[in-house]
Amino acid sequence: MRMMRHSFDRRSFLQTSLAGVASLSSLHGVAILLGAEGQGVADPVSDEDAPQFRKGDPDTLFLTWLRDPTTTIAAVWVGQEMPDDEVEVRCSVLDGDSWSKVKPIRRPYPAGGLSVYQAEVTGLAPGSQYKLRIGKGKVDHLFQTMPAKATNSFQFVSGGDSGARGGSRGSNVLAAKQDPMFVLMGGDIAYDNGVRTADSLRFLKHYREDLVDSSKRLIPIVPVIGNHEVVRVGDRDTAPFFHALYGGLYAERPYNTLDFGDYLSLVLLDTGHMAPISGEQTSWLDGQLAARRDMPHLIAAQHVPSYPSYRPYDKTGEDSRKHWVPLFEKHNVDLVLEHHDHTFKRTHPLKDGLRDKRGIIYLGDGSWGKLRALKDPEKRPYLAAAASNYHVTLHRLEGGQRFHMALTEAGRVVDICTTQKRPLQAMGKGA
Ligand SMILES: [Fe+2]
Ligand SMILES: [Fe+2]
Repeated sequence: MRMMRHSFDRRSFLQTSLAGVASLSSLHGVAILLGAEGQGVADPVSDEDAPQFRKGDPDTLFLTWLRDPTTTIAAVWVGQEMPDDEVEVRCSVLDGDSWSKVKPIRRPYPAGGLSVYQAEVTGLAPGSQYKLRIGKGKVDHLFQTMPAKATNSFQFVSGGDSGARGGSRGSNVLAAKQDPMFVLMGGDIAYDNGVRTADSLRFLKHYREDLVDSSKRLIPIVPVIGNHEVVRVGDRDTAPFFHALYGGLYAERPYNTLDFGDYLSLVLLDTGHMAPISGEQTSWLDGQLAARRDMPHLIAAQHVPSYPSYRPYDKTGEDSRKHWVPLFEKHNVDLVLEHHDHTFKRTHPLKDGLRDKRGIIYLGDGSWGKLRALKDPEKRPYLAAAASNYHVTLHRLEGGQRFHMALTEAGRVVDICTTQKRPLQAMGKGA
């Protein structure tokens, strides 16, 4: 097992967005300016919301990945600046007592003079059980690595639009009950809007408390950027909390691909919140998908839907339909997860916007913690199913088969469908 400090790419956009934070961070409880030109002021940290460290058991701790989840894990939390030996992360196989150590990197949290600690462990064995300890604490934080191959079935949960209020905790509990290997949260995560410190911290605390599986393992989160991650001013916004917390995965740009061994790729997109859809991101997407067209499970995730269930079709997702849907089809993407509308929806398999059994299903619509009533579903011929419920989707991957099950807060199944790899020529756009 090898422990590694994740090196930070100083040329990245992340540096740009955090530069203002670093230079203006202040004492606990005092708001700081974010970014350049006064783009937003983070709320102060209240006593009630201040993160607690609790002897190696931070109440904001979460697990995520910066690279291949079969052999790595990253532990991240928010806290006061502390001596190195108080924040050092140790890792051992679950039934062992041989600890490897890693010193976390530290970056500024946008409020209260707090820091985000991120410790990545690499060189782990796939499909194995581990425990982490932080500092001198004796609390074991359990986790497992993803399997080396997709020969055995496994499951994960996806959703979007959580926030730290409303139905979010009910969905948290429902998601954890499924014992997923991870949660893919497709944007509008904490609803911090780049300034709401209380929502940022409460989301983390709820996630830490709720997203624990039946074997007491922490369930990692795979985050995607949405409109409520950004300070909504100007033409190009900043996403200070998102980048402080999840910047490890998005060190280069606000979109990335997470490859799980040789069996699953999650292509995580930015629907125009930090990066425009057209241009550089579209070229990047073309290259990423082309390199993975034979991947057994190739799934794209985006916040704003290409096929909305609530918002007007002609004013929502036009750019992704124009620039990305042709690439999804050309490169044989298996499934697109999309949110933002605060309903549940599943489209028919679609090709070029029309129902086609060889097409792609678009699934989600973001009702982890937010709800809207359906709007004219009968006028949206691309919809196969829709509902106004808080929901999460459970994905079960078994070899080449995928089962997708939408569950409401009460655990009721509202929709189920299956997908499997199409022959490349099925999309009719070349090999
Ligand atoms: Fe939302
Ligand atoms: Fe949204």
